[in-house]
Parts: sequence; C-alpha cells; structure tokens
Amino acid sequence: MLSKQQNKTLTNMKKFLSIFTLALLTFSFQSCEKYEITIGDDFMDDIQPIFVDKCSSCHPSLLPPDFTEGAVFNSLTQYNGGALIDKQTPEDSYILVKATDGHSSNDVSNGQKEAILSWIANGANKSN
Ligand code: HEC
Repeated sequence: MLSKQQNKTLTNMKKFLSIFTLALLTFSFQSCEKYEITIGDDFMDDIQPIFVDKCSSCHPSLLPPDFTEGAVFNSLTQYNGGALIDKQTPEDSYILVKATDGHSSNDVSNGQKEAILSWIANGANKSN
C-alpha cells in the first residue's frame, strides 16, 4: 500500500507528465506546420530540387519525362505538349497527380505539393 504522501506525489507526477507530453506534442505540431509553410515556390531554389531529389532516380533512366537537374523546367512545361501542368486550373495539373499517386515510393510531401501548385498558379516561370 502507498502512504497518503506517496499517493499525492504519484498523482502530481502523473499530472506533470501529461502536461509535459501535451506541451511537447503542441510544440512538435507547430514546428511541423512552420516547416511546411517555409517551402517557397521559386523554381530554381524550391521546385527543381524537389523533382531532382524525388523523381530523377527513374526519370529518365527508366522512362521519360526527364527530371534530372537542368531538364526539369522543360519537362514540366513542354513534355507531351505541356500536358503536365494546367495553368488555367492549376489544381487539376497532371503533375500533382503523378507526384502523389504512389506510383513510386517517392511521393512528394503535402508541403512540396503546395509549393508546386503555388508555382503553377503564379505562372510556372523559370525565375521570379
Ligand atoms: C521508382 C521509379 C520511379 C520514381 C522514383 C518516379 N517514377 Fe514516375 N513513373 C515510373 C513508372 C514505372 C511510370 C509508368 C507507370 C505509371 O505511369 O504509373 C512512371 C510514370 C510517370 C509519369 C507519366 C509519364 C507519361 O508519359 O504519361 C509522370 C508524369 C511521372 N511518372 C512523374 C513522376 C514524378 C513527378 C516523380 C517524383 C515525385 C516520379 N515520377 C518518380 C517510375 C518512377
């Protein structure tokens, strides 16, 4: 049996632990959100690196389009007559489907998807 004093200490410790866990969770969610928002939509700095990192291991060595450094812009804007992006209805762009459909193990993150969408919506330019 625990004494009254031991019991009180235990309850206090439990309280402290749950508050601590809550604070930790809140903090990690906040930093996660911040990270997503800080991904910009500059082509050279933000967009091209996503495709080089996540897609160039297969494209074009396995099949087109070419997503290696230096080729990404032309592929995004001209492959299949420009079928990858839709400037009129950016959210319908086929590239957003293929970047998140799980056809490889390298889907882009939500933040990266937002960055690509924002880049298309802002005119899909090579430089700002
Ligand atoms: C592990 C290899 C692999 C990786 C990595 C990969 N792909 Fe693919 N990709 C394929 C294969 C295989 C196909 C054909 C089957 C299909 O369309 O799902 C394909 C097809 C495509 C197509 C359609 C091409 C066409 O002519 O219709 C697009 C667009 C595409 N991928 C974009 C991407 C993007 C964007 C990424 C990175 C986020 C990526 N792929 C990463 C293997 C890969």
